[in-house]
Amino acid sequence: MIADLVISGATIVTDTAQFSASIAIKDGAILAIGDAAAMPEAKETLDATGKYILPGAIDAHVHFREPGYSHKETWETGTASAAMGGVTTVFEMPNTKPPTGTVEALNLKLKAAESAYVDFGIYGLLGESNLDQLEALIEGGVAGFKCFMGNTFANLPSPPTGAILEGFEIIAKHGYRIALHAENASIMARRETKLKEAGRNDPLAHLAARPPVVAVEAVARAAILAEWTGARIHILHVSSGDELRPLREAKARGVDITAETCPHYLLLDEHAYTEMGSLIRVNPPVREKSHQDQLWAGVRDRTIDMIATDHAPHSAAEKHKDDIWCADCGFTGVETQMPLMLTQVSAGRMTLNDYVRMTSTAPALAFGLYPRKGALLPGSDADLVVIDMDRPETVDSARLQSKSPSTPFDKAEVTGMPIHTLVRGRFVMKDRTLMTDARGHGLSVRRIQRMPTPTPKNLEHTTAAILAAKPSR
Ligand code: DOR
Ligand code: ZN
Repeated sequence: MIADLVISGATIVTDTAQFSASIAIKDGAILAIGDAAAMPEAKETLDATGKYILPGAIDAHVHFREPGYSHKETWETGTASAAMGGVTTVFEMPNTKPPTGTVEALNLKLKAAESAYVDFGIYGLLGESNLDQLEALIEGGVAGFKCFMGNTFANLPSPPTGAILEGFEIIAKHGYRIALHAENASIMARRETKLKEAGRNDPLAHLAARPPVVAVEAVARAAILAEWTGARIHILHVSSGDELRPLREAKARGVDITAETCPHYLLLDEHAYTEMGSLIRVNPPVREKSHQDQLWAGVRDRTIDMIATDHAPHSAAEKHKDDIWCADCGFTGVETQMPLMLTQVSAGRMTLNDYVRMTSTAPALAFGLYPRKGALLPGSDADLVVIDMDRPETVDSARLQSKSPSTPFDKAEVTGMPIHTLVRGRFVMKDRTLMTDARGHGLSVRRIQRMPTPTPKNLEHTTAAILAAKPSR
């Protein structure tokens, strides 16, 4: 048999092991991993001596803005950023225009995603006004759902708890994971109004409007509703140490709950507000150093399962405002996550195996993609990234692929860069160059997604069951 590509000389890294081996790839999948002498002949070879091969990163949280806000980002520029960042699969958020709350809107997004360089899952919206659409969205091809418990960009209304429960009841039967923007809308709205009335419009007013209780309350509430219904949930962008307690408690109770944090919560603190002004505005906010330390503890003890980016690009004009309330929230991230976090690996804050677990294995398991994705095994999709752990680089916003490359990490010194990225055996980045002919190579992961059998609970109490039951006299 003749392989398409054999990569030799590198150290293979999985979530649990590191070993020297070659990898043979054929028809988009890993054909063999083993001694160089045991590899089949290949049409193409790549010498990766001294480098590491990791499964490509799976970023469970990106906003690519299309349809509706393509001046901020498009699927083409967002997935080009992913390719340059060593990210081979992304999960994209529904706060586009129109929001991904109907099959019609989903189809518009699938159309836009035809330009993708990397594979993708699309989140459907779980909102109060589209509960009757959730099953059609599953049928139509969403890979999971997103519920905005708190307001953020695009101001999609946060569903009341009753609607969230009904949404969980419906989705629990199908097993798809529901990602939650876990912030309490009412607390934030009241705080924000009072801060504005008091004349506060400085950057730190944003942090003051969203104290940790906002997140703790929402995480705990979501966990209770998931426990009751058997829904699988994912807590997005954990930003505070306080959220770790409800997360640990829910996990201990057996709730199927996963959690992510993002590089900005692990690497920045309250000084960012004075140093960067409105650029740092993000929901939830970057917090005080004590939270950063607790988040690292949560990474180490595995309360936090994943590192995602919340890639949320906005134009420079939308980001830079004198009045903090007028600056759009979020910033680009999918291209800088890997260099930033590899730098932390080199600094000894996590191992390369931990890094693979948090950026590949865990998201693949949580979203039913393992071991097709998130694994380096014979038969797995050949989604991989070749990295140089010793390569120093300065993050340069001007050289990022994102259409809106403003980043709080501009000019950050990093060590460790993705050099080649392959999606199903095809180079989407080679020698730090985007392979523009791979535009459109990305596919929806729904084709291969296999969620474990769901175990919905309390079905006799669902709104649908109550309405179907005959009243007794
Ligand atoms: O800061 C944020 N920006 N947080 C979110 O949750 C949404 C995001 C966006 O879409 O801009
Ligand atoms: Zn987000």
